[in-house]
Amino acid sequence: MKKIVYSLFALTMLSMVFFACGGNQNKENKNIADSSQVIVDSTKSDSSCSSETIMDPNNAKPMALMMRALVKNTSEMREKLKAGETLETAKYPLVRFWLVEPTDPDVLEPQFFENARLFSESYKKLSASHDNASQIKAYNAVIGMCINCHESYCSGPLKRIRKLPI
Ligand code: HEC
Repeated sequence: MKKIVYSLFALTMLSMVFFACGGNQNKENKNIADSSQVIVDSTKSDSSCSSETIMDPNNAKPMALMMRALVKNTSEMREKLKAGETLETAKYPLVRFWLVEPTDPDVLEPQFFENARLFSESYKKLSASHDNASQIKAYNAVIGMCINCHESYCSGPLKRIRKLPI
């Protein structure tokens, strides 16, 4: 009898602990969901992206990660071009970011794809340029297309992108 009481007691305690933890976890998840909602909402008013605030690459959407790669590539190109070098354009293939998932699926509308098309056209011109002077010209045109799109979508990084022209 004593044994049964003990095990009942233990069982009750265990389930209490279990529910308590479960409850907390739900609460925690809810808080995380709430806070990410806040991040999304706070940036939605002036832009179509939230990812700059979510720096954790595990949470960033593929499009945001590709944009970060684009920034890295263009900054590198900028340094080389400024130093008078000629780019090995094959090292910087066109990044097809418009084919991957964005943070905000609402951006996937005709205007966005048109901007992406203009971007890729100017990028192809850069890839086809083979001396420093024409590469600088083509590079600046590419950055112009980054800015063109970011004026309508995801305006947060504009300040940063405006520093990229040579
Ligand atoms: C056709 C539109 C378009 C073009 C062109 C474009 N972007 Fe973006 N960019 C976006 C969108 C939309 C996002 C938001 C992506 C997301 O959150 O998933 C974004 C996000 C970014 C971010 C924030 C990424 C992060 O989460 O840290 C940076 C920085 C950025 N772009 C830079 C650039 C640069 C530099 C170029 C040009 C080389 C460029 N973009 C070209 C639409 C564009």
